[in-house]
Parts: sequence; C-alpha cells; structure tokens
Amino acid sequence: MPLNDYVQHLPLRVPPEDVHPMTRLMLRECPVVHSGHDGGFWLLNRHEDILRVMQDWDGFANGNAGCRVPHDPPGVNRPPMPPIDWNGPIHRKVRDVMNPFLSPRALAKNEPGFRSIIGAMIAEFAPDGHADISSQLSKRFPSQITCQELLGVNDAKDLENLRIWNRRLSYDLLTEDPAVLAEVQREWSAWSTALVEQRKAEPGDDIVSALINAKNDGRPLLNDVEVVGAIQILVSGGFSTTSEATANIVVRLIDDPTLEALLRERPDLIPAAIEEILRLDPPVNTRPRRCTRDVEIGGKLLRENDRLLVNYLAANVDPDEWDEPDEFIINRTRNRVMTFGAGPHRCIGSTMARISLRIMVEELLKHVTGIKYADDRHERRVSTQPGGWRMVESFPVTFTTVTPPQSLT
Ligand code: HEM
Repeated sequence: MPLNDYVQHLPLRVPPEDVHPMTRLMLRECPVVHSGHDGGFWLLNRHEDILRVMQDWDGFANGNAGCRVPHDPPGVNRPPMPPIDWNGPIHRKVRDVMNPFLSPRALAKNEPGFRSIIGAMIAEFAPDGHADISSQLSKRFPSQITCQELLGVNDAKDLENLRIWNRRLSYDLLTEDPAVLAEVQREWSAWSTALVEQRKAEPGDDIVSALINAKNDGRPLLNDVEVVGAIQILVSGGFSTTSEATANIVVRLIDDPTLEALLRERPDLIPAAIEEILRLDPPVNTRPRRCTRDVEIGGKLLRENDRLLVNYLAANVDPDEWDEPDEFIINRTRNRVMTFGAGPHRCIGSTMARISLRIMVEELLKHVTGIKYADDRHERRVSTQPGGWRMVESFPVTFTTVTPPQSLT
C-alpha cells in the first residue's frame, strides 16, 4: 500500500502486514503527517513529539467523545469514561480511587487467583499437543481475571456478554451496522447500571463500590453514569490489550527458539523479555488527543480543536530514541517506552498486565515446550480500528507436553 493511502486509511482497516513497515517509513519521511480522513486528524510518530503531547494534558485533551478517531457511528452513545475521558485535577481524583486496587501491593494479593485461572486454562489444553492460542488462552484469561479479580463479577454469562460487547464496540466498529452497535452500547450500559445498583445495595471491598462511594468535597465524585463509564474503560482496558500482548509473546517464543531456553535457565529474565516484546509490538498502537490551542509540532501548525493520533509503535522504534531499535535486546534501558503511554493518563493497569503476563509465561513453560506454528499461515491477524490495531484472530500452534509439569517459580 502506498504511504499516502496508508495514512488516509488509518482510521479504517489497513492491512496488518503494512503496520510495521509503514511506521518505519513515516518515521523517515513524514513524522508529523495529516490525514484528511474521518474529518481530518494528525498522526505523530516521533518519540520526542509524542512524549511532549502525552505529558501536556492542558494543551492536548484526552476524551473519547471529542477526539476519537474514527468518530463513533451515529447512535452509539458511550457513557463518559473517567479517568480516560477526563483531564486535570478531577482526573487525578478518579485515579486516586482506582489506584489502591491496581497497585503492586494490592495485586500481590491477587497473584494466587491470577495463577489459578491462567494455570488451569493452560493445563486444560497442554496434554493435547496443540491449541489455538487465541481462543484457548489470549482472549480468555485477561477478561476472566479482570472480571473475577478486579470487578468481582463471577457469572459466566456476564463474562461472555462483556467479551461480546467489548469486541463489538472496538473491533467491529467499522463493519457492524450502527443500529446494532447502538443497541450493544445500550445493553452494556444497562448491565453496568444494574451492577452499580447491586453494589449500592450490597457494597463490597471492590473497585466498583469504591467508585460509587468516592467523594469530592463531600459530594459524590462520580454520578451513576460516570461509574458505568469507569466500569466500561476498566473492561476495555483489561480485555484486549493483555490479549494482544499474550499472542505477541507466543509469536516471539516461536520465532526465536533461543528465548525459551534462556527463560528456562533464567526465569528472572521473564519480565525483561516481556517488556522488550511490549516495546517492539505494543498492543495499543495509537491513542487520540485534541489540541486545546494552536501549537507547532515538527514544523507543522496544528490548530485548536484539531485531533491527533500518537503512534506508540513508532515512538518505540524511533532511531532518535533507541539504539538498534528493531533488535530484541533483553537488557536494554526501557524507561521511556511508550507501550503504556506516558504522563497523567499513563496506563493505570500496567502492573496488573505485567503480573498476569509473567504468570502466563511461567505457566506456559511449566506445561509445554517447543511451541511451533501449526501451519504456514502462522498467527492470523486482522487490522481493526483505530489506527492499525493488529488483532490476532486465530493462532493454531503445536508443542510438546511437559510431563510432569515443571514449575519455573
Ligand atoms: C498490555 C496491557 C495493556 C496495555 C498495552 C495498555 C495500554 C494503555 C495505554 C497506552 C494507556 C494510555 C491511554 C492514553 O494516554 O490515552 C492506557 C490507559 C489505561 N489503561 Fe491500560 N493497557 C494495558 C492493560 C490494562 C489493564 C489490565 C487495565 C485494567 C484492568 C487497564 C486500564 C487502563 C485505564 C483505566 C486507562 C486510563 C488511565 C487514565 O486515563 O488515567 N489497562 N492503557
């Protein structure tokens, strides 16, 4: 696909195999580029420019309703979603309510729960010698741990519905009938509203109850619709991101067979290996912002209310930021990696993602060895909106079962 077509089509589906090469091309040829599509937006690729935008909440507002690329189809009325849709001091207050549930200390208590959910899933397919990593692992465990361990939602039907609603309102956004999508949002909001009512009646020691009861100067910090939106962003944040990361980790284990041997010998390197895979293949490729005033970036004038997308993938492989950016270097310094964003909106679930991904690798290597692609089609990716998400649709693999299972921990 020619570069210009790629930029113009970015909010639609671009071929998944184009995302990496086009990103490198944009970094070289047009690091700040405008697309006329979807009402117009800028695309930023340089690490330096992206960091500046991410850190300046006053100059570049977050907020899906105003800056989403592409715009939602008509009739899809998403609730406001704090914290991601809010900026400034009030945004900080919402994070302060969520943080105690997502801090390393709090999540240490969840580790046994994460391990039992992830371990059971892997133990189920391990004896078969083959599996679909997508349907049997990567799309299953992140949603289950988010629901059970974070939201306190244990009903299998609820979990299935949430998976469907989340998928429809992200991956299927451009292909599904808007009337169907509008109905999906209504169903999801109705379900979340019922959850809020239930937690009001029976408050617990959980994040939903904390959001309901949070106060700002003696008044509720969030009204019911905003709590419904906060639940929605926790679900969206927790489900597909960790799914993509899981698939990308398994791809790397297959493509680089020396990695499995290294991690078996040095399990302490598992977190660093995960970080490097997250750098090279960040699950969230782009995020939007809206300029709150005229600003110059990379020699271009962006006007007040212009929308822009930051390309995290580009920031993570920008040669001005990284030595040998395309190489997998397990012990490189990665403190400016953009996979989880930067600045005030930096991912609040990053610790949860990191813990669950480490446990996933430990449990996988405990049960299986020598993972290979089941056929020459490798992992099947589809690009989805926005901006070149490369979702793994199906991922058939074969492997040798480890009997008895060998714990790495
Ligand atoms: C590998 C997994 C993950 C990746 C790559 C990821 C990526 C990101 C990124 C890039 C942002 C910044 C968005 C922006 O600046 O506009 C973000 C924000 C956020 N993430 Fe994650 N995320 C992951 C896992 C999770 C998990 C497990 C949760 C919760 C259970 C979560 C919840 C959130 C929330 C609530 C925000 C909004 C924070 C704010 O606006 O202050 N994420 N995530």
